[in-house]
Amino acid sequence: MAPRLAALPSPAAPAPSQEWWRDAVVYQVYLRSFADSNGDGIGDIAGLRSRLPYLVWLGVDALWINPHYPSGGADGGYDIVDYRAVDPDYGDLADLEALVADANQLGLKVILDVVPNHTSDQHPWFQQALADPSSPEANRYHFAEASEEPPNNWQSLFGGPAWSRTPDGRWYLHLFAPEQPDLNWRDPAVADDFDQTLRFWLDRGVSGFRVDVAYGLIKDDQLRDNPGAYSPTLFGHGPEQAMTWNQPEVHDVWRRWRAICDEYPGTMLVGEVCLSDLDQVALYSRPDELHQSFSFRLIKSGWDAAAFADGVQTALDAFATVGAPVSWVLGNHDKDRQVSRFGGGTLGTARARAATLLMLALPGSPYLYAGDELALPQAVVPDEAKLDPIFHRSGGARAGRDGCRVPMPWNEAPGVGFSPDGAAAPWLPIPDDWSQHAVSRQTRDGGSTLTLYRRALALRAAHPALGSGRATVSTSGDVLTVRCAGDDETVTCVLNMGADTALVPNPGTVLLASTTHVKNAHGTVALPADTAVWLLEG
Ligand code: NOJ
Ligand code: CA
Repeated sequence: MAPRLAALPSPAAPAPSQEWWRDAVVYQVYLRSFADSNGDGIGDIAGLRSRLPYLVWLGVDALWINPHYPSGGADGGYDIVDYRAVDPDYGDLADLEALVADANQLGLKVILDVVPNHTSDQHPWFQQALADPSSPEANRYHFAEASEEPPNNWQSLFGGPAWSRTPDGRWYLHLFAPEQPDLNWRDPAVADDFDQTLRFWLDRGVSGFRVDVAYGLIKDDQLRDNPGAYSPTLFGHGPEQAMTWNQPEVHDVWRRWRAICDEYPGTMLVGEVCLSDLDQVALYSRPDELHQSFSFRLIKSGWDAAAFADGVQTALDAFATVGAPVSWVLGNHDKDRQVSRFGGGTLGTARARAATLLMLALPGSPYLYAGDELALPQAVVPDEAKLDPIFHRSGGARAGRDGCRVPMPWNEAPGVGFSPDGAAAPWLPIPDDWSQHAVSRQTRDGGSTLTLYRRALALRAAHPALGSGRATVSTSGDVLTVRCAGDDETVTCVLNMGADTALVPNPGTVLLASTTHVKNAHGTVALPADTAVWLLEG
């Protein structure tokens, strides 16, 4: 007789619905630029709330809102003065609670941005640390004694040294702008306070957090010199910056945060981890750490099939080792709009549409940046209107990020419907010709990019092979193919990144194409340059 096998204990896996984030389509709302309800020219929470039906209509699952906190205004809200409040520019706590309630009722999750690496220099802790060098608050930052030279060779990512002087001559560390002093996460008071911040928002029904600079909280304990300088052409930081980023102890912070989220079933954390080695990035999403960490390979790749294939495969392999989904990114508030990155105008738009079909086919969680569904180009913002510290700190040598943060065009009226009639000027100028991109116009146009996104998201929801299939990546010349095998059906995405039309086999039917010019005959599809297609097998 065969020996009896003891029943294996079944792991206490959460119900599938609690892991909604594994294949969720997340829409990133740049709050200041989304919709202005009260006419001050600044997008706000009530404006976003009034536009929730648009997001439901579009077909996304969740929204991530860029920082909504009271801020010193030095870096687009990433310099926070009070982590448990709402900036009056955006409304108040009641507005945020109403937004979360409405969103949840409409089936949308709300993800907030949290910025634990640095505070604003206006934060009460930093103010106290300036006033009294022996205060407990001073230990919550990185101060060094007055001396001729800064304590080490670290550079600010926004340009110049990462150290500035206090009025009494001490040095303090800021990996970003001088108005963003870095916190000292080796002081337990810092971690304790962030625990409270997380709970404060989780208690208000939010479904998670996007974690800013998740790879940077802990620094080398002796603040030693870095071996080399960071180059913006790299995919992310590497060994040349080994003392600043990716210290092993940072993972303890994410274990601590994960434990808090586990007390609130169905909540999640997605980290910004800008390291060149995706295997290192994936380690931030081990089962007891962040649920996701962004994969930035596609947003950093040019229009090149080999680069895209490598970006997709490397991410799939890296995250498979930790059992986390890949979170894909083609656009965000830090990079030039994809239409412009891919060549601008008709060409850039065609490529952005095609790249989006690829991203939406891949297994995992795609992050869409507000306005990309309208094929917005990088706006030309006059220098005198620019606010980004990257532009100002580089003396104008770097263009800065204002051009991807310009308000949304909703309709074709003057002002494109961002603010109510008679409002103040928008906080960043909207280009004169942006009514051509307006939501109202694209809604009526069956060939618009907005219509393409909406169709693609509806098909993605209807065909689990899209978004949760097993992907096989291959290239043939400039043509990239990703076959996504679901349990019941298979959908293949073919992306032609070459200059000529490609003939590709069609194993079934064309589900969707990024252009109307795809010709489908005799088991093959003629795929023009700069287009993509979804093919359903069988
Ligand atoms: C990453 C954010 O996305 C960016 O906008 C910000 O400037 C830096 N972190 C600093 O917080
Ligand atoms: Ca407003």
